[in-house]
Amino acid sequence: MKVVFATGNAHKLQEINEIAVGTDIEFVLPPEGFDPVEDGETFEENSLIKAREAARLSGMMSLADDSGLCVEALNGAPGVYSARYAETAQGRIEKLLDVLKDTDNRKAKFVCVMTLVDADGKVLFQTRGECHGEIAREQSGVNGFGYDPIFLIGSTTMAEMSEDEKNEISHRGKALRNVLEFLQNLA
Ligand code: IMP
Repeated sequence: MKVVFATGNAHKLQEINEIAVGTDIEFVLPPEGFDPVEDGETFEENSLIKAREAARLSGMMSLADDSGLCVEALNGAPGVYSARYAETAQGRIEKLLDVLKDTDNRKAKFVCVMTLVDADGKVLFQTRGECHGEIAREQSGVNGFGYDPIFLIGSTTMAEMSEDEKNEISHRGKALRNVLEFLQNLA
């Protein structure tokens, strides 16, 4: 079964398909021109906007994710604004370390919401995966992307984990496994 995955990022598509190995589900990119305006205030709203736009363009069942980092001491910020917190990935890491430099409460979570819609944009399934950890005092590791170098699980940052280790515990891995279970029961 082919399902459109609402992203313009071929690397993300590859990661998703790796988690789906062993199922008969293949995720494919949306048609050219996919450029939704992510102006929702929640992960749920933004993933629905993306999924509906992919379904509108492709006429196929479509899945979208929306994710971000929520820091407890910042009342959940940067949240849906994680990608726009500062201009570059390194800038975002440095800004967060600086904002939290006098804060002892380092608790944080990565959140990923996935929304699956049919070809007409009707919601079939929505699920949320969370991964709880802490913000490190300094960055470490070179794997992954985004805030991975400062996101600690125990004493290891996500950027020090292999892709397989991260997929096992990550917000995105958890949400996608829920979606795969739903899709397999649909077939
Ligand atoms: P989006 O869901 O692709 O819009 O991503 C939102 C932003 O959240 C990304 O640009 C990253 O800054 C951050 N983010 C989401 N998931 C992860 C992750 O697994 N590791 C590190 N940063 C992440």
